[in-house]
Amino acid sequence: MAHKKSLEALKLTLKDLRRNNNISGGLMILLAGDFRQTLPAIPRGTPADELNACLKALPLWNNVKTLSLTTNMRVQLQNDQSAAQFFKQLFGNGKVLVDATSGLTTLTNDFCRFVDSQLALIENVFPNIIENYQNYAWLSQRAILAAKNNVVHALNFTTQSKIAGDLVTYKSVDSITNPDDVVNYPTEFLNSLELPGFPPHNCNSKLVQLL
Ligand SMILES: *[C@@H]1O[C@H](CO)[C@@H](O)[C@H](O)[C@H]1NC(C)=O
Ligand SMILES: *[C@@H]1O[C@H](CO)[C@@H](O)[C@H](O)[C@H]1NC(C)=O
Repeated sequence: MAHKKSLEALKLTLKDLRRNNNISGGLMILLAGDFRQTLPAIPRGTPADELNACLKALPLWNNVKTLSLTTNMRVQLQNDQSAAQFFKQLFGNGKVLVDATSGLTTLTNDFCRFVDSQLALIENVFPNIIENYQNYAWLSQRAILAAKNNVVHALNFTTQSKIAGDLVTYKSVDSITNPDDVVNYPTEFLNSLELPGFPPHNCNSKLVQLL
């Protein structure tokens, strides 16, 4: 998912550090990944921006030799037939059927289970969370993913609200380092920013007694 410029920066840094003008300072670099799964995320970007940020849009890509892995090790080593089936449905012949006009793809009923609402999703993934939340093994086996942070926060909040305990809100204290900029960046604006990897401005936690 790395932006192409990070590889470009690595290439230049290696040249610099090794004082060697060959590509990447003459070092061989091993990259692993699957472009069908890991396109870079460009905030507010269009599909064209994402393709343009992709490693394949680098001139450097001409120097990359692609090696393909063809054996599914999870299926091979653990003889996990459901993993084999999942892989076949996900990748089939290597192409996903996409509707030409909408650009959307359709998942079939035997591929996954559908639910009507976020509440039903939470119920299905975290059944009886009121009692199960203290069971770490149970918790570690489940997760809900979403494409956008605001949906993640909403799902998190709803899931958390099912657990008994007092809700405590911890607010971040945001300020600007240069006092001259105070007019341009009011505190309300700073509070509204949701930076990746940072807790939200209103961080809600349940105070519960763990066994
Ligand atoms: C740069 O690459 C060329 C061609 O592969 C090689 O002959 C040369 O030794 C390399 N230079 C250095 C400093 O590694
Ligand atoms: C969900 O909320 C809890 C409590 O505020 C927080 O510790 C946790 O990081 C949040 N998880 C995500 C994925 O945002």
